Amino acid sequence: MSDPNDLQAFYDLAWQHLARGAADSRHPARFPTFATVSPSGMPEARTVAMRRASVSAREVEVHTDVDTPKVASLRHAQFAALHVWVPRADLQIRLTTKVEIVTGPEVDAAWASVPVASRVSYGTNPLPGTPIDHVHAYEKPALRARFAVLLCAVTEMDIVQLGARHRRAVFSADTDWRGTWVAP
Ligand SMILES: Cc1cc2nc3c(=O)[nH]c(=O)nc-3n(C[C@H](O)[C@H](O)[C@H](O)COP(=O)(O)O)c2cc1C
Repeated sequence: MSDPNDLQAFYDLAWQHLARGAADSRHPARFPTFATVSPSGMPEARTVAMRRASVSAREVEVHTDVDTPKVASLRHAQFAALHVWVPRADLQIRLTTKVEIVTGPEVDAAWASVPVASRVSYGTNPLPGTPIDHVHAYEKPALRARFAVLLCAVTEMDIVQLGARHRRAVFSADTDWRGTWVAP
């Protein structure tokens, strides 16, 4: 058993799970909850897919339709929280992030990596959230112009692991990522 007091190993463990989520659609970190603040100040959360997690850049990536309400929220308040629960590891990971909304030629490579069958996630008509007359009264063309990458720069990470003795640590850009144990 590794040293439970090893902060760096705890931090690395969380990033390993985030990276596995990006690589493996069956891993629980594949589908984080992504929370934003609406333009009227209300909390809002939804499931997204983890597309990339880079420990070296301290960045995670999510893909979305640029016309979804979450993007309007991000234009208003450019911060998002991501939440992941990994049952097998008894591990909760919470990220606070500053989000850059990237569209256009800069995301050509990311669009090329989206399987053709999945491209219909970008372009729903009428716009996502619009009331419709019938359950299926919408179409889903694949619209390249609606594809957006949300680059989420991590500013804080809060990690909790349940066990006989719980562990919780907070890592923050403000303290140069040194990290500290906190009461769970
Ligand atoms: C398993 C799952 C994965 C999803 N992945 C994404 C995703 O990667 N990006 C996205 O924009 N929406 C994704 N959605 C849909 C969102 O949860 C949400 O319904 C949609 O984006 C509209 O959200 P908004 O109105 O808050 O903008 C996913 C939903 C589920 C159930």
